[in-house]
Amino acid sequence: MPATATFPIFDALSLRREFPILNQQINGKPLAFLDSAASSQKPRRVIDCLEDYYRRYNANVHRGIYKLSEEATFAYERARGKVAKFIGAASPREVIFTRNTTEAINLVANAWGGANIRAGDRILLTVMEHHSNIVPWQMLAQRTGAKLDYIGIDGQGRLVLDDLDRLLTERTKIVALTHQSNVLGTINPVRLIAERAHACGALVLLDAAQSVPHMAVNVAELDADFLAFSGHKMCGPTGIGALWGRRNILEAMPPFLGGGSMINLVELEQSTYADVPSRFEAGTPAIGEAIALGETVDFLNSVGMETIYHHEHELLCYALDRLLVVPGLIIHGPNTLEERGATIAFSLEGVHPHDVAAVLDSEGIAVRAGHHCAQPLHRILDVPATTRASFYLYNIPEEADRLAVGLEKVRKLFA
Ligand code: ALA
Repeated sequence: MPATATFPIFDALSLRREFPILNQQINGKPLAFLDSAASSQKPRRVIDCLEDYYRRYNANVHRGIYKLSEEATFAYERARGKVAKFIGAASPREVIFTRNTTEAINLVANAWGGANIRAGDRILLTVMEHHSNIVPWQMLAQRTGAKLDYIGIDGQGRLVLDDLDRLLTERTKIVALTHQSNVLGTINPVRLIAERAHACGALVLLDAAQSVPHMAVNVAELDADFLAFSGHKMCGPTGIGALWGRRNILEAMPPFLGGGSMINLVELEQSTYADVPSRFEAGTPAIGEAIALGETVDFLNSVGMETIYHHEHELLCYALDRLLVVPGLIIHGPNTLEERGATIAFSLEGVHPHDVAAVLDSEGIAVRAGHHCAQPLHRILDVPATTRASFYLYNIPEEADRLAVGLEKVRKLFA
């Protein structure tokens, strides 16, 4: 197995050395990677773990009565256990490996939604959702005749909780919302929302793609019913994510995709299905990627999720101080720092976000520009696009300095 490094005392500079990709020049400048909300970088031990699987014990899982397959199956199921523990699940059986957050939400919308949503039912979302937590529900509503409702946001990009009280009725079957906005950085009061939703008999799905990588998440404490997240945003590989669901709810759900591994008995006319989680993992899964996600969890635990959260919070405070003095810069999202994560979307007066990103790239700074898969939110913000800088555990204050200096350069160029 690959060697591991631990970080008892957080030291971002040492930590950076674990990420080979960060040690390079882009356009003649050291890379400042500020786009982890889109996809994070991977530490050496995760890359090594993936390579180790392909080099040493690549074989299909749950199928072979031979050494390699047994080793792969053991490692795959051990990874499921690590992921379950990481999010406070009651059992590894509550964790289904998916390709990503999007697939996890589609699984719920199709399998749970298909069995439980009827014409006239209401599905409650928020206007700050990523398209992955809007479009699957629209598709379900179109199929079933259900209706979508949306909780709005205030001027600081926080949910309007009066909307929740107004829109939650006994017709509401599920409330699906993001734990942390991928644009505004807003951390939503999900526990309170879950309490109110449950009081009305609705289930709660959390899109945790932007929270699980950045803070300690415990599904029991959050009181959610489903939680979806992606490996690639938490220092893990692409092509692997997870859906957590309460066991009794998962057990009552029909399958999503049909095929090998998800069955009990197949006859020519009909089939019976395997227990959870296999019922929801049709076909050969992303085995090496799932195993590497387990290694990712070990890595994050070695740093500590509380430590990661505090480091990012300090970076957020520092970066906002530096950015707030840039003339013409409008920062979207809450002013109250405890209500937001280290994802900063902004507009620079008179300059298109794509131009901002292109000039920053010439300085070696990687940010994302566009609608960030949140077109309805951008319509409400009344901007076609924003530029977004997102920080993670390997970022350092100097990168926030470089961002501020880069934005001054943008202003001069476009003055
Ligand atoms: N959901 C990713 C983002 O916000 C792709 O950039």
